[in-house]
Amino acid sequence: MKNFISVHDVSDLNGLVKKALQYKAAPLSDQSLGKGKRIGLLFLNPSLRTRLSTQVAAQNLGMEAIVFNVGQEGWALEFEEEAIMSGNTVEHIKDAAPVLSLYFDVLAIRTFPSLKNREDDYSELFINQLIKYAGIPVVSLESATLHPLQSFADLITIQETWKEIKKPKVVLTWAPHVKPLPQCVANSFSQWMTHWGRCDFTIVHPEGYELAETFTKGATILHDQKTALQDADYVYVKNWSTYNDYGKIYESDPSWMLTNKHLLTTHNAKVMHCLPVRRNVELSDEILDGSNSLVTQQAGNRVWAAQAVLADIIKNA
Ligand code: CP
Repeated sequence: MKNFISVHDVSDLNGLVKKALQYKAAPLSDQSLGKGKRIGLLFLNPSLRTRLSTQVAAQNLGMEAIVFNVGQEGWALEFEEEAIMSGNTVEHIKDAAPVLSLYFDVLAIRTFPSLKNREDDYSELFINQLIKYAGIPVVSLESATLHPLQSFADLITIQETWKEIKKPKVVLTWAPHVKPLPQCVANSFSQWMTHWGRCDFTIVHPEGYELAETFTKGATILHDQKTALQDADYVYVKNWSTYNDYGKIYESDPSWMLTNKHLLTTHNAKVMHCLPVRRNVELSDEILDGSNSLVTQQAGNRVWAAQAVLADIIKNA
């Protein structure tokens, strides 16, 4: 692949999962692949897992990884074409990106949505402008609408824990939160599950929290959590703010927080969350600290997801 922005950049999804699991079994098996190569990790927003797992993945491939916290340390970047830069932005991406492409072989960027203007956020202006002006491979570390490295790690986690022949029932459930969050993780997980196609995929949320149809086509969409959780094998818990009436919180009904009681009608479902998680708001302590939780394993798999993606990009560069 050239860039890694969504599941559509992956030509062989099962092959990429297989590669990631090979790296998990033998992390340093491709140490010479990235020798002499350098990735620049540009963060416009905070991170723990994405930053560190991508650095570890690059190092496992023998590649140097340099982090630049643009949001805190860099010049404020302008992404709009023909902008009159008389405001707060100092440097245009059209000037910065060609420079970065002289320093690095691959660029990666984290750029959250504003949650103020849906059209702007869903146009993915920031990451598209970086791709346009850098001219070298670009990896999404979470963009305005998607979080592909997270979803790839989620798929790896499901594949390595599901041992039955029949398809698992996977449920993505909305959960309460104290502030409006992007739809990225939910959009992306839906996109990857429907594209993968080897599961029975249900999304459940209160009315008004519909996600963009472009990501949910093929999923069963319900509003009753109890009905949705019946016979589930995996429950993915995540908050998101409203998409239609963009970036709002309509309700934070605490009964949507997943507890052990919610798991009684499931097939002893494994519980997933991308982290960071608001304990006892989104998910109860009893689940997070219990044997049904996959959250740490998921976060661990971020390394192997990033390593498989970077290896594929380097090989095709
Ligand atoms: N899940 C995830 O992306 O974690 P970070 O925000 O800590 O990178």
